[in-house]
Amino acid sequence: MCRIFYFQIPMKTKILMVCLGNICRSPLAEGILKSKVDTTHYLVESAGTGGWHVGALPDPRSISIAKKHGLDITDQRGKKFSTYDFEIYDHIFVMDNSNYRDVIRLAKNDSEKQKVKLILNEIFPGENVDVPDPYYGGDNGFEQVYQMLNEACEKIMSRL
Ligand code: 4NP
Repeated sequence: MCRIFYFQIPMKTKILMVCLGNICRSPLAEGILKSKVDTTHYLVESAGTGGWHVGALPDPRSISIAKKHGLDITDQRGKKFSTYDFEIYDHIFVMDNSNYRDVIRLAKNDSEKQKVKLILNEIFPGENVDVPDPYYGGDNGFEQVYQMLNEACEKIMSRL
């Protein structure tokens, strides 16, 4: 006798965080949102519009600020955003207006464009505020970025 087993494969909502280098802001955003959602239902990843840090660990300052807030982001490795990501992800949150332009330029249609949102518009709707790039600044910039992203991710989580 032949038995057929049906397994329910849960469809996850897929979220991508995007910045320029994928070593400072978007790895933090990925780690923060992952810590707030049920990862059996949500996939959270990150990528950069530039490819300089593909395969690299997050910046040590991002690792250290994440650790300070109880998050381990050392399992992450740099990835470059690709047009294929529009097909994979349901929501694409970009860190600044420059990332927004770079990602939108790669979209093939309106449905792909509508997936792309500036992350701080979650807490400052319609204001198009940038998450400042802390790469060239001091350690204090990373704490500010953490606080902004934590607030935005709290909003994202409550709306999912
Ligand atoms: P991120 O910061 O976009 O927040 O990861 C940057 C990291 C590296 C570079 C630029 C921005 N870079 O030019 O290498």
